[in-house]
Amino acid sequence: MIELKNVSKEYEGGVKALDSVSLKFSEGEVIVIKGMSGSGKSSMLSLIAGLSKPTEGEVVVDTKHISKLADHFATSFRRENIGMIFQKYNLIADLSVKENILLPLVPLNLKREELDERLSRELERFSLMNKKDTQVKKLSGGEQQRCAIARANINNPKIILADEPTANLDEKLSLSFIDSLLAMKSENRTIIIATHDPLFFDLDFVDCVVEMRHGKIV
Ligand SMILES: Nc1ncnc2c1ncn2[C@@H]1O[C@H](COP(=O)(O)OP(=O)(O)O)[C@@H](O)[C@H]1O
Ligand SMILES: [Mg+2]
Repeated sequence: MIELKNVSKEYEGGVKALDSVSLKFSEGEVIVIKGMSGSGKSSMLSLIAGLSKPTEGEVVVDTKHISKLADHFATSFRRENIGMIFQKYNLIADLSVKENILLPLVPLNLKREELDERLSRELERFSLMNKKDTQVKKLSGGEQQRCAIARANINNPKIILADEPTANLDEKLSLSFIDSLLAMKSENRTIIIATHDPLFFDLDFVDCVVEMRHGKIV
């Protein structure tokens, strides 16, 4: 499902965030990328999402050579295939739960019924039905988290990328995040979590833990 072939990423100023990384992940796997701050985790997720291009090497996602696609093709590939969860959720505070969750579908021009069906599915699964018209800024932390996960899941992505998803969460919310991961795994999504939270290091449904140091896999 995902392959990195000798991938290096060097930023302006000469920082080598990734140094000849090769990896292969299969469909439906849950992968944890661990490593200290600055080890290259977020850079790896950006390359897989097609948000940036490698300086060397190649990234293949679901048979698409995403590192070679022109930016607008990479963007539409990402919209259709990838769901992203960030540490700070990146929700739009003044919009409602429903509007936030539906946002990734706006460019896809789906039919009204399809939108309603997917929205109900996510609202139900993440217990947000009675909050659907509430502005996000009025939600609790746990509700915001569930809203962010629902938004990542709404386009039925093959791949979920989560960058430090529990960095701002207390233990109870971190555990509920893990429950959400299980729900997504049961839909055969391939899930990659970049984290230094030890909570993820020996979960029994994690298929693979990759440790990064100074841009290399150790
Ligand atoms: N846009 C950027 N421009 C320059 N350097 C960057 C940029 N993004 C990340 N870096 C550098 O690349 C290295 C890896 O960063 P990152 O991938 O964010 O690691 P992690 O997510 O593991 O903390 C760090 O040294 C960081 O400072
Ligand atoms: Mg990071």
